[in-house]
Amino acid sequence: MDTNAEILVDKRTIDEIISKNEGKPGKLLTAMEEIQEANEYKFLDPQSMDYLSSRTKVPLSQIYSVATFYSFFNLKPQGKHTIIVCRGTACHTKGSKVLLDDLDALPGCKEAFEAGETCFTTEDRQITVKTVACFGQCALAPVVAVDGIIYSNVTSEKIMKLLQNLREDKKDENIKLC
Ligand code: FES
Repeated sequence: MDTNAEILVDKRTIDEIISKNEGKPGKLLTAMEEIQEANEYKFLDPQSMDYLSSRTKVPLSQIYSVATFYSFFNLKPQGKHTIIVCRGTACHTKGSKVLLDDLDALPGCKEAFEAGETCFTTEDRQITVKTVACFGQCALAPVVAVDGIIYSNVTSEKIMKLLQNLREDKKDENIKLC
């Protein structure tokens, strides 16, 4: 990320989002989703949240409680690709910690999770690694999602192949298991 301008959603876009959702149920949630989507790095940047608060008169504290309650909101810049490793009981039993450890191949990833983070993004902003409590696909454990596609019964070999594909920016349908 080179400049602040790149990480912000411009005010006109936020104004448009607010106007088109005016009067609709769940307008705050929808506006936040759309603002996050409009951000190049798919996160809710502080300046945009300040502006949203001032325009809607919704206290900033309330906006942040919503942002932290729903896991699909990001408060940090996200990478181009996302790997989500399930850390629920079923996946843990089937070795999801090993899969997370395999992602040590990304410099700084291991340290971030050891420090208690639940989200790590590479410096080049190509890959974000996250954990989730359960995908609801426990019978297929261990489960990993890559760019929104769920992969089941993932092994170390498979996760390394998925990682390699992301680095090479290609998809390998042969390892898509469900
Ligand atoms: S614990 Fe991983 S999908 Fe449920």
